[in-house]
Amino acid sequence: MADVSIRSSELIPSPLPWRAPWGAAVLSALVVWLCFVSSAVLAQSAAHPSSEPTFSSGYKFTQMTGRDLFANICQGCHLPDGEGASGAGTYPSIARNKNLEASGYPVHVVVNGQRAMPPFGAMLSDDQVAAVVNYLRTNFGNDYRDAVTAADVKVVRP
Ligand code: HEC
Repeated sequence: MADVSIRSSELIPSPLPWRAPWGAAVLSALVVWLCFVSSAVLAQSAAHPSSEPTFSSGYKFTQMTGRDLFANICQGCHLPDGEGASGAGTYPSIARNKNLEASGYPVHVVVNGQRAMPPFGAMLSDDQVAAVVNYLRTNFGNDYRDAVTAADVKVVRP
């Protein structure tokens, strides 16, 4: 507060002529500073437009087990029990899902995405995709024991 009151008193026209340029210098410094701050704020909001996807392609998930990957990525949409949900959108159930029988299908969906399901290929290694697909196919009431390998993932990458 003390600082502000000193500055504003300097902005008030002073009867002493030598004080005038000092006040102008403070005022222009303040204007320059305000421009700098507002342009920095604008630049920041331009760098993160709200329409950007939540997961940027620069992000890599670090979890390695299917269980941890599911908990970090998939359950937000498919729900912790894999039952899916419908409301603002439709998130299909992973539980007792016959579409998981052909292992290439879930691998393709996770890597490349499909309609409202975002692609995760850029954020996951081949081993991570295989781990999460194997987790889906052997949990939530699914019992498909033919495990997917990293090589199966590599071939579906664009
Ligand atoms: C942002 C929400 C979202 C996230 C996160 C998400 N999914 Fe999906 N998923 C969807 C939607 C929506 C669909 C339906 C796509 C369609 O219309 O074909 C879907 C479909 C699928 C399907 C196909 C189901 C079927 O019966 O055809 C599989 C398999 C799947 N997701 C697995 C996963 C896995 C594994 C993860 C985590 C790595 C994951 N999903 C993360 C939204 C999501």
